[in-house]
Order: sequence, then C-alpha cells, then structure tokens
Amino acid sequence: MLILGIDTSCDDTSIALLRDGSEILSNIVSSQVELHGLFGGIVPELASRKHVELIGRICERALADAHVRLEDVECVAVTNGPGLIGSLLVGLMFAKGFCLATSTPMVAVNHVEAHAMSIFLEQKPQFPFIALIVSGGHTALLLFEEPCRYRIIGSTRDDAAGEAFDKIAKYLGLGYPGGKAIEEIAASGRPDAIPFPRPMVDEDNYDFSFSGLKTAFINFVKKHGITESSRPDLIASFQEAICDVLCRKTMRAAKAYSVDRVVVGGGVASNGRLRVLYSEWAAREKISVLFPSRGLCTDNAAMVAITGSFYAERNLFSPETVRVFSRMARG
Ligand code: KG4
Ligand code: ZN
Repeated sequence: MLILGIDTSCDDTSIALLRDGSEILSNIVSSQVELHGLFGGIVPELASRKHVELIGRICERALADAHVRLEDVECVAVTNGPGLIGSLLVGLMFAKGFCLATSTPMVAVNHVEAHAMSIFLEQKPQFPFIALIVSGGHTALLLFEEPCRYRIIGSTRDDAAGEAFDKIAKYLGLGYPGGKAIEEIAASGRPDAIPFPRPMVDEDNYDFSFSGLKTAFINFVKKHGITESSRPDLIASFQEAICDVLCRKTMRAAKAYSVDRVVVGGGVASNGRLRVLYSEWAAREKISVLFPSRGLCTDNAAMVAITGSFYAERNLFSPETVRVFSRMARG
C-alpha cells in the first residue's frame, strides 16, 4: 500500500510517501526554525500561515522525489492532534481535499502515537512495549498492548522535557530550539557538578514535572552567576537531571507493568546523554530499549504514514467529519 503522510502539528510542514509499511520513498520536512527563531519561540499564527504557503509545494515535491503520481496514493494519513489548532487545520483540510478529489481513504493520526510508532520505520519491536515520548510539546509514557491500542500511563504536569531545554536555552541566549545547543555545551561539562532536583522521581506514579527544575536552574544562576568556565558544568548537570528523571520513571513503569521492551521517540530522544543512560539501564536490567535514528526522532511525516499503515491494515479509516484537537486526552 502506498501511503501519503502529512504532519503540520507544530512548526514543520512535512509530507512523506511510504510503501508497504516499510519503504520511505520520500520524507520532506520543511522547518520554520529560522522564522520562529527571530521571536525566540513558535508564533502560532505565523506557523499556520507558513503551512498554507508551503503545503501544496511540499506535496508536489514529496510525490516527485518518490517518483509516484498523485493518483497512485492509496491512503492519506494526517496528524489531527495534539498540536497547534491553526497548524493542524492546514494539514487536515489539505488531506480532506486530497481525499475528496481522489476518492482516497484517510486515517487521522495522533502525533504522540506517531512518535512512538516511528521506531517501526527501522525495526519491528514486539508488542507489548512502553513508549516514552519526549518532545517540545509532550512528555508521556504510553503502554502499547497491540498496534493501534495504547494507554497513557504518565505525562507531564507542566513543561515538556524539550520545552524545559528550550526555555533554559532561551534564558542563556542559546537560540531556539535549544535542545541541541544544550547537548553540545553539556558534552564538555560534568553531569554531577550541581545536584539539581529530580522532580517527582520517587513518587508512586509515572508523571513528570520539569517547571520547578527550570526554576531551580535559574535561581542557581541568579545566586552564583554563570561564567564561560562554569557554563558547561551547569548545563551538563541540568541535562543530567532531566535525563535521569526520564530514565528512572521509565524503569519504574517497565517494572510495574512487567514489560521488557521500551521505545523512545520525539525530538529529545536524539539527545546523546539520554541514549547513553537508557542503554546502560537496558544492559543492566536485560531490557531492550530502542531509539529511532536521530533524523526520525524529530517531527516528520513518515512516522505519521507508518502509524496510518497499522490503522489502514485494520480498516480503521476516519470519517471526513474528523476534527483537530489541541491536547492529548488522558485515558
Ligand atoms: O518532536 P519534536 O521535533 O517536536 C515536537 O513535537 O515538539 O521535538 C522538538 C524538541 C525541541 O524542544 C528541541 O529542543 C528538542 O526536541 N531537541 C533536543 C535535541 N534535539 C532536539 N533536546 C535535547 N537534546 C537534543 N539533541
Ligand atoms: Zn513532535
């Protein structure tokens, strides 16, 4: 089956073509980072307008790169939430128009679920597994019992992990988005230099909270200052606190649900320190922890297409009345 995937949930316009649930024929991601970087964060109205401007051209390019014609597409998978309403609407309306014009069935895809399923673009983990999704907009632990069936077992109560990285990067004038810059600076620092708090780590639940940690970092800087030489230690310690909490809470969830497979997805999953901590844990506990390659961690439409393929295989198509939604409902 040839699936066209569309993701416009945030500030990237992405369209992909996926054949038979495994072969990525094209996966174009047009980033708006330069535009929003000027404002130090995403401006929703500008994001929607940019999606409108780009989506038609990106679709043409995705089809051309894949060497397929519009009428070859057998299913359209499109993100309908969670995300920025205006941005989501552009992708969903484009998909609806495409499907109406070509009599193609449509699958509306949950963006967080798509991050979890991105691993299937490269590997075939067995169900059940636990998925940790860490991105700029989300931090969630999902328990996948089988394809298309999952439960949210934990999520963030305030800032997402990526959001905490981005806010600290902004505070330090490192640009937007800041996760990658933080990782680069942290590489030359000591992760145990400053004992930042590990919020909620010992609580008997699988939720996260990163807002207090961000405040702890800012308060530390206000009190002790930050110099060129102390910066790497400070940033490495901050990064360590986030990665440590993520890892320990995932460990706790895996034990509680007796699951020995974990997949990690979302932009923050490209963080090298996070990958090291998880692989050390995996080796210690004989658990399999899978990460998509870095390029598939951040937002892309191939992950939406692969998620759509699981629904299409089961004839779980969406009605043309399907709507966008901004927040993930806790199940
Ligand atoms: O999944 P994604 O592309 O978009 C959302 O769905 O939010 O994730 C973007 C987030 C940003 O917060 C960015 O700072 C973070 O992922 N990120 C990283 C790294 N690369 C991207 N965070 C930590 N380390 C990285 N190397
Ligand atoms: Zn995302």
